[in-house]
Amino acid sequence: VLMIAMPKNLPQPQLKPNTDVVLQKRYLRKSLDGKLTETPRDLFWRVASAIAAEEGKYEGSSREPESLARDFYDLMTSWKFLPNSPTLMNAGTDLGQLSACFVLPVGDSIEEIFDAVKFAAMIHKSGGGTGFSFSRLRPKESRVGSTGGVASGPVSFLRIFNTATEQIKQGGTRRGANMGILRVDHPDVLDFIRAKEKEGEFNNFNLSVGLTEAFMQAVEKDEHYDLRAPNTGEVVDRLRARDVFDLLVKKAWQSGDPGIVFLDRINRDNPTPDQGEIESTNPCGEQPLLPFEACNLGSINLSCFYLPGHNDDADPARAGIDWDELRRVVHLSVHFLDNVIDASLFPLPRIAETVRRNRKIGLGVMGFADLLFELGVAYNSQAGIDLAERIMGFVQEEGHKASAELARERGPFPAYPTSLYAKKKKGPYRNATVTTIAPTGTLSIIAGCSSGVEPLFALCFTRNILDGERLVEVNPHFEAALAAAGLAGPELMDSVVAKGSIQDLDFLPAKLRNVFVTAMDIEPVWHLRMQAAFQRHTDNAVSKTVNLPNSATEQDIFDIYWLAYKEGCKGVTVYRDGCKSIQVLATGEGQ
Ligand code: CDP
Repeated sequence: VLMIAMPKNLPQPQLKPNTDVVLQKRYLRKSLDGKLTETPRDLFWRVASAIAAEEGKYEGSSREPESLARDFYDLMTSWKFLPNSPTLMNAGTDLGQLSACFVLPVGDSIEEIFDAVKFAAMIHKSGGGTGFSFSRLRPKESRVGSTGGVASGPVSFLRIFNTATEQIKQGGTRRGANMGILRVDHPDVLDFIRAKEKEGEFNNFNLSVGLTEAFMQAVEKDEHYDLRAPNTGEVVDRLRARDVFDLLVKKAWQSGDPGIVFLDRINRDNPTPDQGEIESTNPCGEQPLLPFEACNLGSINLSCFYLPGHNDDADPARAGIDWDELRRVVHLSVHFLDNVIDASLFPLPRIAETVRRNRKIGLGVMGFADLLFELGVAYNSQAGIDLAERIMGFVQEEGHKASAELARERGPFPAYPTSLYAKKKKGPYRNATVTTIAPTGTLSIIAGCSSGVEPLFALCFTRNILDGERLVEVNPHFEAALAAAGLAGPELMDSVVAKGSIQDLDFLPAKLRNVFVTAMDIEPVWHLRMQAAFQRHTDNAVSKTVNLPNSATEQDIFDIYWLAYKEGCKGVTVYRDGCKSIQVLATGEGQ
C-alpha cells in the first residue's frame, strides 16, 4: 500500500456531536484485541493519502500526490465531501476494497448459483453490498435435465442467499445488504411479490420487481401479458397486467415490499449497452450496474455551501449558495472518486476488469434538507423543487466537466469508443457515469447533516443505531430558528420531541411551520416530485423513500407508482408509516 507521510502541522478534525461514536464503532482501525490503533485524524489521513498516492502513476497529472493528499484531507474533514463507508474503512489497508455497490449475475445452474453465493460472501466481508437478478433461473417445478427432478425456483434460492448473508457480518460490524430483482414476466413473479409476506422473512434483502415497458403499457390498456420461462424462452402463462400491478400495490401497502424498478428505462440510459444488459441495482436501488460491475460512491454535504445573508425571498433558489466553492468541491470530489477506482482491490479479477473498463463513479449530495432549512425554503414547494433542479443540474454539469478534464489527462474510460457518449459525440469522459444519489445512512451521521435528499424524519428524535445504542438529536437549524424567533424553551421542546413535527403547534408562526416540515408532514406527491427532480440531473438513480401516513390507501400507492412512471423515475420505494414493527428511525410517539 502506497502511503504519504502525515504532515507535522496537520490539524485535528473538528468532530460533529455523533461522529466520535460512529467512527469508534465502525471506522477506526483496531488491533486484534479490540484496542483502537488510530485516531480520527489518522483515519482521514490514511484515506486521503492512499487515494492521492494513485496520482503518482499518471504522467499527465498536474498534481503532486503530497499536496493532493492535503486537499483530500481538508475536503473530508471540512465535512464537505465524504466517500462511501468501505473507502473510509479500507483505504490504505491490506483489504483495500473501497466500493459500496456490486452486482453479480446468477446463472441457471447449481454451480453458478453457488458461485454467486460465494462471491457475495466475499463482497460482504469487505463491506460492500450486492444486487442480483434472479430472472435467469428456471421457474419452480420445471424439469432439471441432469436428475429428472424438478427445480425449486428463484424464491427458494433467494433463501440460500439470505441465510448466507445472515452468517457473515460485514467487517465484523455491518451485515451485508442485498437487492433481489425478478422480472415481472418471470413465471414465478407472484410468489416473488408475496415473498416477504411474513415479517422477518428475507430480512437481508430489499426486493424489487423489474417492470418492463410492455408490462406498463399492458397495465395502461388493461391487457394481459406473457410470462416466459427464461431457460426455454417459451410463453408458459398469461396474466392480466392490472391484477399484478394491484398485487404489487397491495403488498407495498402492507409492508413496503417489494419495490419496483423500471428495467427498460434503466437500460435505455445504460451508457455501455455493448458491454451487456443491466438486470439489477445495488441494495438501496440508486446504482444500476452490469453483471460483475462495482461502483464507489461519495456525497457532497450541501449544508456547507449556504451563504448567510444572501437570502432572496423573490427567488430563494438563486441566492444563498456559494456556487464557486461548490464547483471546486465537485471537481475535487470527481478526482477523488476516480482515484478510488485505481486504489481499490476487488474480490474477483472479473470484477476488477469490468470496473476498470467503465470506471463508473457515483457523486451525490446529502444535507439537502438542512440547506432548505438554512435558506428558509419548504421541501414541499415549487421553490424547493426548483432549488433541487438548480443544484443537481450544477453538480451534474460540473461533474461531467471534471470527468472530461480527467479524460484529457489520463484518457477516457476504456469502453468509451463504443459507448453511447461516443455515438452522440459527447465527451470523451473518464467515467461512464458520474452522479448517483445515495442514502448516506452513516455518512450523514459522520458529517452531521440530513441524509441524502430526504427531508428530516423528525425535528427531534432518538436514533436507534449500532446494536441498540440510541442517540437523541435536535436539528441544529431548527434550534437556531427557534432561538432567533425567541421561542426556545423546555416546554416547547417537549411537545416537539413527542411529535417530531410542529405542524399541530398553532401558536408557532406560519413561516416556521411551512419551512420546518418533516417526512410525514410532506404529501407523498411532493416526495415523488422531489425524487423526479433529482433524477432528471443524475446519471444513475436516486435513493428516496416516499413516506405515506398510516391512513394512506392502496389507491394512494397506485397513484404514486403511476406518477413515478410518468415522471421518469427509475424506480420507487414507498413506506407507509407503522406498517412494520421495527423502524430504524422513530419519533417519540409510540415508543
Ligand atoms: O452512508 P454509507 O456510505 O455507509 O452508505 P449508504 O449511502 O447508506 O448506502 C450506500 C450503499 O452502500 C447501499 O446502496 C449499499 O450498496 C451499500 N450498503 C451496504 O452494503 N450495507 C449497508 N449496511 C449499508 C449500505
